[in-house]
Amino acid sequence: MSENPSRWYDRIAFLYDPFILGAYNRARKAAAQHLQLAPGQRVLDLACGTGENFRYLLPHIGPSGLLVGADYSRGMLAQAQRKVSRAGWNNVYLLHTDAQTITLQEISTATGLPAQPFDRVLITLGLTVIPDWQTAFERAWEMLKPGGRMALMDWYVPKRTWWTPLVDTIAASDITRRWWEPLEARAQDFQRQRFFPGTVYVASGTKT
Ligand SMILES: C[S@@+](CC[C@H](N)C(=O)[O-])C[C@H]1O[C@@H](n2cnc3c(N)ncnc32)[C@H](O)[C@@H]1O
Repeated sequence: MSENPSRWYDRIAFLYDPFILGAYNRARKAAAQHLQLAPGQRVLDLACGTGENFRYLLPHIGPSGLLVGADYSRGMLAQAQRKVSRAGWNNVYLLHTDAQTITLQEISTATGLPAQPFDRVLITLGLTVIPDWQTAFERAWEMLKPGGRMALMDWYVPKRTWWTPLVDTIAASDITRRWWEPLEARAQDFQRQRFFPGTVYVASGTKT
């Protein structure tokens, strides 16, 4: 796909939640568990889309914690904003930005929050979509504080087959990317968990 995938997501944002129908709920819940969340923590959900992860994160960090959701699609962020307003979450900050260039200073300028590294960083179904996903991973890793945890959740298939172009066309993705490898190379206590039907994985680790 030549256009930025976020333009595609702008167009399909209104269909995203009805279409995925909670298909990733178990994996989202597991990703939140991998983060080992605690009250008061600062969490970044990068490429947050419509905010489907938020309800798995906010009960653990409580009202003293804060959640920043960043995405490059205004359409997806509008859906996330609707969820935030409906639920009355007042410790969620949504930010329109490119995960390939994001910095703590940019987040601070946009939200008024101090430019401090995050306790936890989550990226779900993002690294198979973001064009320069390795750079996005590096940006995310830089924004995580030492001792902080990162969790990733995404599709992976080792070989293209008859159905993979279908997934990649619908999701503007490349599900053959080995997106967990930069985390595996850097993190302490790296783990990877596989989900039924065997194409979705959660990976996590701690920054030393
Ligand atoms: C499959 S959706 C996943 C959304 C959400 N994380 C979830 O788990 O449902 C992929 C998301 O990546 C976002 N995205 C693509 N390229 C991006 C970029 N360069 N920076 C930030 N977000 C990006 C899209 O806008 C879209 O919301």
